[in-house]
Amino acid sequence: MVKIGVIPGDGVGPEVTAQGLAVLEAVGKLDGFRYELESFDLGGERYLATGEVLPEAAIGKLRGCRVILLGAVGHPGVPPGVLEKGILLKLRFDFQQYINLRPVHLYPGVQTPIRDKGPDDIDMLVVRENNEDLYVGAGGFTRKGTPEEVAIQTSVNTRPGVERCVRFAFEQARKRAEAGAFRGLSKAARDAGLTRQVTLVAKTNVLTFAHDLWMRTFEEVGRDYPDIQRDYQHVDACCMRMVVSPEKYDVIVTTNMFGDIITDLGAVLQGGMGLAASGNLNPEGTAPSMFEPVHGSAPDIAGKGIANPLASILSVAMMFDHLKVPAAADRIRRAVARVLEQPGPRTPDLGGKASTAEVGRAVVEALH
Ligand code: NAD
Ligand code: IPM
Ligand code: MN
Repeated sequence: MVKIGVIPGDGVGPEVTAQGLAVLEAVGKLDGFRYELESFDLGGERYLATGEVLPEAAIGKLRGCRVILLGAVGHPGVPPGVLEKGILLKLRFDFQQYINLRPVHLYPGVQTPIRDKGPDDIDMLVVRENNEDLYVGAGGFTRKGTPEEVAIQTSVNTRPGVERCVRFAFEQARKRAEAGAFRGLSKAARDAGLTRQVTLVAKTNVLTFAHDLWMRTFEEVGRDYPDIQRDYQHVDACCMRMVVSPEKYDVIVTTNMFGDIITDLGAVLQGGMGLAASGNLNPEGTAPSMFEPVHGSAPDIAGKGIANPLASILSVAMMFDHLKVPAAADRIRRAVARVLEQPGPRTPDLGGKASTAEVGRAVVEALH
């Protein structure tokens, strides 16, 4: 019996999570996967009613779960950062979920805004470092509120933190499906026997301390993977190349902050925020891993029942990858592919008129 913690959260979080859970339930029956849910009432409403963000007791119970499904946090009535840092980042850090895995995959039948590009061109995997960098919350103010105010926010990068992330990326490159082999490689590289590519995305020309460490670590770890081409791009050029030549990317490894930014761009390449899934992984399994859409609570469309649930549903598939139940993961991805390649229900972000629940139902039906 696998214990799954559920944090529906704020805004569209509960709406999309309900569909993720409907798919989980149907897959559980079809594939004989036995699980137990424990739901956690955390987020803006709880905070506004009680002042509690993430009580110790909830952390303890979440720690007892094998995996966690999260919708989104962030509430227009709560100052920015209270919930995002207090719930999401706290769990990512406390549970040592040091990898944020964010696939960028264009499904056939989905329109990408990038002209003349299709599913063969848009298929990359972003490995985002998830426990360091500007996200550690190191910094502070002096003379706050005065004309001479100083605000400092420090990027923390450690050799072990960078190394485990970079190594994970090279391992992922080896694991990527055969179909994606040779992506971004020149003929000369292929002739030299290389099959895969990992691109480090950083800013070594400006961040000459932090990203020098990243570059040296990347080069050193990369020597253990002679079959994999090492590629480097500055983050600004990466944004340009993701749009102009997305087919040049296979696996990207990057810092926490840059990974956040380029994966919203990646979401757009694959058809929008409604399709981008992610996993916050504790690869050693010393604490639960957490699966969630890349998108936030989307207050502009919350409560209308029109949020796209596919990112949440595809995050459930990533949960099954992590739990090593590939049949269930594949079944979900095949069902999503089937729904998207045929005319059928689409939420408004994909140009349709269907509700969140109608799209969820279509995926459940396509599971069979
Ligand atoms: P957002 O991702 O919530 O929304 C950006 C845009 O994408 C909006 O126009 C929204 O309508 C659209 N969108 C998002 N999800 C969608 C879906 N499933 N279907 C259709 N359209 C969708 O980003 P934001 O507006 O910058 O942030 C809103 C709040 O969410 C903030 O409080 C932010 O801090 C928080 N946030 C939380 C998470 C998380 O919990 N993982 C992630 C990002 C942002
Ligand atoms: C994401 C979000 C979070 C991040 C915020 C809400 C803390 O934008 O998961 O991409 O920056 O990591
Ligand atoms: Mn983000």
